[in-house]
Amino acid sequence: MRDGGIVLGIETSCDETAAALVRADRHVLAAPLFSQLAEHAPYGGVVPEIAARAHVEKLDLLVAQAMHEAGLGFGDLAGVAATAGPGLIGGLMVGLLTAKTVALVHDLPLIAVNHLEGHALTARLVADLEFPYLLLLVSGGHCQLVAVEGVGRYRQLGTTIDDALGEAFDKVAKMLGLGYPGGPAVEALARAGDPRRFALPRPLQGTKSCDFSFSGLKTAVRHRILALGARAGEEQVMADLCAGFQAAVGDVLVDRSVRAMRLLRAEQPACRTLVLAGGVAANLYLRARLEQAAAAEGLALIAPPLALCTDNAVMVAWAGIERLRLGRVDDQSVPARARWPLEELAPPLA
Ligand code: KG4
Ligand code: ZN
Repeated sequence: MRDGGIVLGIETSCDETAAALVRADRHVLAAPLFSQLAEHAPYGGVVPEIAARAHVEKLDLLVAQAMHEAGLGFGDLAGVAATAGPGLIGGLMVGLLTAKTVALVHDLPLIAVNHLEGHALTARLVADLEFPYLLLLVSGGHCQLVAVEGVGRYRQLGTTIDDALGEAFDKVAKMLGLGYPGGPAVEALARAGDPRRFALPRPLQGTKSCDFSFSGLKTAVRHRILALGARAGEEQVMADLCAGFQAAVGDVLVDRSVRAMRLLRAEQPACRTLVLAGGVAANLYLRARLEQAAAAEGLALIAPPLALCTDNAVMVAWAGIERLRLGRVDDQSVPARARWPLEELAPPLA
């Protein structure tokens, strides 16, 4: 693929409808995005049927808008990529079918992108970064430490044994009546809070594996709220609870990431970078904590800009470019997959 090659990316796996045009020389030409937040907010979470319908309504417009902003026709593209999983199946089908249609009509290569691979490779769009690196992927559905050894070559070093981290943020926010999505609201309140006022557990900290657990921490917050009664609604108390929760999360992420990095570097000393990705990576407090921890280990931390941490189509187009360069394209029969672990992308051993 030429450096000037342009790929159209489509993202519809959850509650963001997005299209993006990215050039292989890492230039983003257009990236319109429609957030369905207002549609789902009354229900306190994402409603799959509402999401699928909103994707149907908005996607064509967003693709047209991207092409218009970049001043391009479909004939100018080198390929079209769409998230094929994991995610909500209705939305995935809308996005993948749209990409298949564009590919078929304009005779373009089709790339079915794994959403997690999109998050995993974004760091290579924003920085000169060679493999291998350690990825901490923290989103609404995932909390994983992954050795990224090449395009399609991912090895899970640790994962959550219960809740995903974004889910834990969202549940804590819900308990405090902060609305959905909870992550940004918890982060904002925590800024004015005292993280030491409420002692909260650090699940799995110091243990041998690189796994995570957030269910106990979430329950501890609930018990605190119940014990506080009406006082739990006071502004300062809420801020202190959020700060305490976030500090506990920060300690756990640092402990687990440092452990995984030491393990990985024992095998692959060339690995010197920790990459942060997924929606929770938008949290500035957690970024700062991980940055300090990485520096203390003599490592670099790469965290993509906020808009590339939460769900977006730029990362899908970029993963499409990385795959297209290696000739890894898909045919029209490729399915949408609600469940699609990163490790299943590994190429078969020769
Ligand atoms: O990656 P993402 O946009 O969607 C998934 O693939 O899951 O992540 C969404 C998650 C939500 O749980 C949201 O509350 C969380 O990321 N999130 C945050 C912040 N911004 C978004 N969590 C903590 N702090 C934030 N600033
Ligand atoms: Zn995501």
